[in-house]
Amino acid sequence: MAELKNDRYLKALLRQPVDKTPVWIMRQAGRYLPEYREVRAKAGDFMTLCSTPELACEVTLQPLRRFDLDAAIIFSDILTIPDAMGLGLHFVAGEGPKFNSVIQSAADIAKLGVPDMEDNLGYVMDAIRLTRREINGKVPLIGFSGSPWTLACYMVEGGSSKDFAKVKGMMFDEPKQMHALLDVLADSVIAYLNAQIAAGAQSIMLFDTWGGALSRENYQEFSLAYMQKIVSGLTREAEGRTVPVTLFTKGGGQWLELMANTGVDAVGLDWTTDIATARQRVGEKVTLQGNMDPCVLYASADRVEQEVANVLAGFGQGNTGHVFNLGHGIHPTIAPENMSRLVDSVHNISEQYHR
Ligand code: CP3
Repeated sequence: MAELKNDRYLKALLRQPVDKTPVWIMRQAGRYLPEYREVRAKAGDFMTLCSTPELACEVTLQPLRRFDLDAAIIFSDILTIPDAMGLGLHFVAGEGPKFNSVIQSAADIAKLGVPDMEDNLGYVMDAIRLTRREINGKVPLIGFSGSPWTLACYMVEGGSSKDFAKVKGMMFDEPKQMHALLDVLADSVIAYLNAQIAAGAQSIMLFDTWGGALSRENYQEFSLAYMQKIVSGLTREAEGRTVPVTLFTKGGGQWLELMANTGVDAVGLDWTTDIATARQRVGEKVTLQGNMDPCVLYASADRVEQEVANVLAGFGQGNTGHVFNLGHGIHPTIAPENMSRLVDSVHNISEQYHR
């Protein structure tokens, strides 16, 4: 395997000194890039794009050709696991993800098992292996999964939801049943992420997109406990390096200490949490990832640079412990030029904080 030429991102996650703040962006491969839309149109549908390793590899590499990013994230989706469990995932234009079968009862849950990683999800591992070859050591490759709670939200609701009526109904009425579902999901995520690491993923990100919809008590019992189990079950060393783990609960700003205590290397922040305060709360224990409001990219390029400076100043002096990112995924309608300005400003402006 080619030697890693830029390890700024991995070092910052492990709180080792770096020369500049590393930057990557959630959903950096996606619809705001015309070259993505072209490959996506050629693939026909989103799942074909995910499940064809050559195409998934191509769109993973696209943002690296345009921007001076410090990491790549394998192009896939968090909903590959429920799909591999037999739920039948498809995407309806304008409506987002949909499942053919939804989880409604204890009997539905009893039928679920941990999918076979090579038979049912081998396309993700093939995409990782191919991308590692093609990336040729330029930057590290991130593997990822949804959190059990976030996956359960889609599986019980049958798609996206605003109020989480069904999944929360199940959680409050049938907590044992919900725990059985979360258990099989946690075991699946552990097997999935360890297979990604074996295939070449050099860092892991857990997306808990809907953990923030829970009360503190329910978050601990139904989301955090399972992420804790996953963190404890992951392979943490590969190719002679530590494989760092980042946990991101959107809307989880009140629970940073709880997240930092799971044994993760980094915690992702959305833009509603002040990064300076967050650093005071957990800064020595974990690296912080984030946290510019994705909508800043709708403003002018000069305003983007100003806001990058604000986030970097918010984190402040110190030669490690910060990975720049947005507080959530990049929107499909922003101008790619603003993304260039963002990435370059992070590197240029952050140098002063690393002396
Ligand atoms: O970050 C990256 O560049 C890697 C790729 C990635 C995608 N989805 C590609 C994608 C990652 C890490 C995800 C994770 C994901 N998927 C999450 C967790 C992160 C988050 O945003 O909170 C969630 C909740 C999903 C589920 C999902 N997949 C949704 C809600 C949608 C949007 C549907 C829509 O039509 O807007 C998707 C589809 C999806 N996943 C797209 C991309 C680029 C857009 C699909 C397209 O090209 O038509």
